[in-house]
Amino acid sequence: MQLNSLPFFLVLISGIFCQYDYETGYYPDPDYPYVHSMMGPSTAVCAPECNCPETYPSAMYCDDLKLKSIPIVPPGIKYLYLRNNMIEGIEDNTFENVTDLEWLILDHNHLENSKIKGRVFSKLKNLRKLHINYNNLTEAVGPLPNTMDDLQLSHNKITKLSPSVLEGLVNLTILQLQNNQLKVDSVSGAFKGLHSLMYLDLSFNQFTRLPKGLPPALLMLYFDNNQISNIPDEYFQGFKVLQFLHLSHNRLTDAGIPGNVFNISSLVELDLSFNKLKSIPTVSENLENFYLQVNQINKFPVSSFCKVVGPLAYSKVRHLRLDGNNLTRADLPQEMYNCLRVAAEISLE
Ligand SMILES: *[C@@H]1O[C@H](CO)[C@@H](O)[C@H](O)[C@H]1NC(C)=O
Ligand SMILES: *[C@@H]1O[C@H](CO)[C@@H](O)[C@H](O)[C@H]1NC(C)=O
Ligand SMILES: *[C@@H]1O[C@H](CO)[C@@H](O)[C@H](O)[C@H]1NC(C)=O
Ligand SMILES: *[C@@H]1O[C@H](CO)[C@@H](O)[C@H](O)[C@H]1NC(C)=O
Ligand SMILES: *[C@@H]1O[C@H](CO)[C@@H](O)[C@H](O)[C@H]1NC(C)=O
Repeated sequence: MQLNSLPFFLVLISGIFCQYDYETGYYPDPDYPYVHSMMGPSTAVCAPECNCPETYPSAMYCDDLKLKSIPIVPPGIKYLYLRNNMIEGIEDNTFENVTDLEWLILDHNHLENSKIKGRVFSKLKNLRKLHINYNNLTEAVGPLPNTMDDLQLSHNKITKLSPSVLEGLVNLTILQLQNNQLKVDSVSGAFKGLHSLMYLDLSFNQFTRLPKGLPPALLMLYFDNNQISNIPDEYFQGFKVLQFLHLSHNRLTDAGIPGNVFNISSLVELDLSFNKLKSIPTVSENLENFYLQVNQINKFPVSSFCKVVGPLAYSKVRHLRLDGNNLTRADLPQEMYNCLRVAAEISLE
């Protein structure tokens, strides 16, 4: 994807990620369940302890109720919110009357794998979103129906993704697994076949290198806060649309980064802050945001940004962070300004 498609891309991404209003805790987009100020008495068939707003009777809100188990879910419910309870398990028949269920939001509970009975999710033939962030899972849940587009299992204690657990999820677009205990060997083969995956967050895990076989359609890849020290040459060559790559707070050294590994022409943002780099890796002229703060960089070669400089050949970098390195403004070469022509901000202090 080139820069001219970025506006479209941002609209797409904001469509995916900006529905959620963190202040109210609801999805304010009118296409989606919305209660907040409209919360009135429950009218539709609803579990007595929960709320099914008149305006969106297919949504059932059971947040913050200290529930220990999932209440009876009446037929017709499509969006089920059960955040901030004390749910430890799910019975085999819990969803037997709600095969229409599309969203199941279970963040901040006490779910454990051993207490999720049977093939409880695979029967949900319309399930698209499953969020089990902030629970007590030690492995991924499954099997899951192939209608899924958004799976979030962050902030658990997951140590393993077996090769079959995500198999067949051809429409999965978002996969959030940050803040778990995953390692390279424990995810081997797990991502194959995720042909639609655009967003993968594996930050705050225990990776010492990047796993093989990540889906090549990725637009956003997050591996912050791992222990990665090197990246094989050509690792990113198959990633033709990768736009956002974050590898901050790892153990990257110059020796671990072969010459062109980050010269990825689709990349818009690269975060390599809080590593152990002494020089600036070569990047594509198309890169716009480059974060290198808190490394050990002590020189500024223009060739990291521009091979040649000319009327149409210059770096698109707008924001460059170099603070927390061994560089002062005097270290910046004069010819830099021909190459970094559109830089709005170069921070050094
Ligand atoms: C599903 O509906 C049937 C028939 O109304 C009822 O007997 C059963 O208890 C329901 N199951 C659940 C888990 O609510
Ligand atoms: C999570 O599981 C561990 C044992 O696997 C248990 O000791 C702990 O109390 C559980 N935490 C919650 C919040 O359920
Ligand atoms: C995947 O998404 C496409 C487009 O929305 C849809 O037509 C197709 O049925 C979906 N596949 C599955 C397995 O749900
Ligand atoms: C990045 O790679 C391309 C070829 O893929 C090359 O033309 C370009 O000069 C490289 N950029 C830098 C800054 O070396
Ligand atoms: C910082 O750079 C200066 C000159 O560029 C060098 O003399 C000095 O040793 C460097 N300090 C560290 C901590 O690398």
